[in-house]
Amino acid sequence: MRIILIGPPGAGKGTQAAAVKSRFPVDHISTGDILRENVRAGSPLGIEAKKFMDSGTLVPDALIIEMMRERLAKNSADGFMLDGFPRTVAQAEALDELTKEMSMPLDAAILLEVPDETVVKRLCGRRVCSSCGAIFHVTGNPTAVEGICDVCSEPVVQRDDDREEVIRRRLSVYHRDTAPLAEYYEKSGLLRRVDASGPFDAVKSRLESAGLS
Ligand code: AP5
Repeated sequence: MRIILIGPPGAGKGTQAAAVKSRFPVDHISTGDILRENVRAGSPLGIEAKKFMDSGTLVPDALIIEMMRERLAKNSADGFMLDGFPRTVAQAEALDELTKEMSMPLDAAILLEVPDETVVKRLCGRRVCSSCGAIFHVTGNPTAVEGICDVCSEPVVQRDDDREEVIRRRLSVYHRDTAPLAEYYEKSGLLRRVDASGPFDAVKSRLESAGLS
């Protein structure tokens, strides 16, 4: 299975990817997670990327494409699920070239659709584990013990870019730069639209109906 998950910030890409991964041994590659690891490590990529991430804008295509070229070469022979890449038409074209070079064509591009106001509510309440990256929500999916991850018992934190003004900037960047990918993948016959509003289990079932099963 070689798929990409597209959708606005807060659509539930990371949450649903974790559910898919628990059932299928697929390499889940999140560009946001890789970038945050680089920021934590203080690598040259992390230092460069941080200013874009903090402001809610996109890290330049050239940096992201090089990062993904290296990552896909590593561990993806048995399939992959890309979460947060591609995010621009230039990145989609680069991915087409990469998958061609590697003889690993995409099976589907899943577009998670959710209204902007739902995104704002989801992201203002999101908490993530500072160690294992597990995703929670203060009201929708709270941790059993306040502030402590259910999976590894480390503290959960609010992401720096989950402040309302940054969330709204990320949404406008999404509509301008990433939403055009729907047309891009519709033309190649790979697009599958999934309604990502409503409770977690409902979205999970719709994803299964769209072929993620
Ligand atoms: P990234 O980390 O990829 O952020 P994002 O795309 O903005 O997506 P999010 O992680 O915010 O949301 P999600 O869809 O995964 O939602 P989640 O499952 O957590 O990127 C961060 C930054 O890195 C970018 O802004 C950019 O600067 C840079 N970057 C990354 N990739 C790049 C690229 N390719 N090119 C350039 N720059 C790049 O869920 C959100 C919340 O909602 C959680 O609290 C969850 O519990 C809750 N929730 C989930 N599903 C439901 C549901 N059905 N009902 C109720 N609540 C739900």
